[in-house]
Amino acid sequence: MSMLVMAAIMAFLHHLAAFTVVSTLAIEVALFKPPLTLVQARRLQIVDSVFGISAGLLLVIGMGRFHFEKGAAYYFHNPFFLTKFSLFIAAALISIYPTLLFLSWKQDIKAGTAPTIDPVKVRKARMCMMLELTAIVGILFCAPMMARGL
Ligand code: HEM
Repeated sequence: MSMLVMAAIMAFLHHLAAFTVVSTLAIEVALFKPPLTLVQARRLQIVDSVFGISAGLLLVIGMGRFHFEKGAAYYFHNPFFLTKFSLFIAAALISIYPTLLFLSWKQDIKAGTAPTIDPVKVRKARMCMMLELTAIVGILFCAPMMARGL
């Protein structure tokens, strides 16, 4: 397969993973309004695992694109890529808090009961999600800048 076709396929996969990350995060924000029913709690856990898997794929595919676009050296010397990458890592680290909260409901869900969640933890988790969305806005600003060599 030619480099051009591979570059286009990698761009498609990159966008597919990025759109999945954004949409699953938006679903989490909309769903996470306690008190939760058992079904809502289970859905949040499932949506969060899709979010985590697509974020992991996004990182791997994004790095894979280096080879089919301008080469790793170009990106690691580009300030917009470095900002984009730092924002991505920051968002990934911030997302650990809500993920651990959702995973802490395991016993309740197994027992067939809806989890009761401390309001302070709810506020913190929602704040994390807002920070992640803000980081994505920054990433979307940096992406076209880095692609055009700015
Ligand atoms: C939420 C996370 C991300 C979003 C929303 C995102 C978005 C985008 C967008 C919109 C473009 C197209 C830019 C353009 O052609 O104008 C792009 C290109 C690209 N992204 Fe991402 N991206 C994300 C994460 C990543 C990560 C983690 C990496 C690598 C570690 C990465 C590497 C790349 C590369 C190499 C390109 C091609 C740039 C070029 O054409 O020279 N992206 N990204």
